[in-house]
Amino acid sequence: MSKTIGIITGSLRKNSFSGSIADYVKSNAPAGYTFKLIDIGSLPLYNQDYDEKEIKEYTDFRNEVKALDAILFITPEHNRSIPAALKNALDIGSRPYGHNIWSGKPGAIISQSPGAIGGFGANHHLRQVLAFLNILTLAQPEAYMGAYHTLIDEKGVLSNEGTKEFLNKFLAAFAAWIEKTAS
Ligand code: FNR
Repeated sequence: MSKTIGIITGSLRKNSFSGSIADYVKSNAPAGYTFKLIDIGSLPLYNQDYDEKEIKEYTDFRNEVKALDAILFITPEHNRSIPAALKNALDIGSRPYGHNIWSGKPGAIISQSPGAIGGFGANHHLRQVLAFLNILTLAQPEAYMGAYHTLIDEKGVLSNEGTKEFLNKFLAAFAAWIEKTAS
């Protein structure tokens, strides 16, 4: 049976660069894996008062993540950190206290930017949060997609061959990491 890797993108906008990378990843899954997009755009802002309530969006999201074998984060950088929507989703999954749905799941990060450093700040802020949440994050290879706007065609589809090759290697390394952490 194939394993399911959830894709969580830090961007909510239509036709996003993060979505463009997600599209490539989905159609180039390593053998034995399928990718599933997890929507975080409809999650209400986290509020600790909700820990004692049944918030349908939270429950559905938590159940969806619990069922995943691994998680791939694809994110832009917002003001040298991760977008608020992504932090919101991470916080919702971490609570109520003692019910951290992320714990023990293998994860990996791809950051992108039109800028030169490929979302380095977001990538490493995200690593800090994932370490605390006990997501077993792939260390190498790192994936910083700089000048992403130059790597796509006029429809936003990833067209740079070197980047595709890199992503294929990255996904193979992630699949090997998932197998290793499962044993
Ligand atoms: C940005 N952008 C940006 N880029 C960057 O390299 N470093 C940064 O700190 C920021 N900060 C920032 C803040 C806010 C509020 C926005 C909206 C944008 C540019 C941003 O990285 C670029 O828009 C994304 O790469 C687009 O990704 P998506 O949304 O298409 O996936």
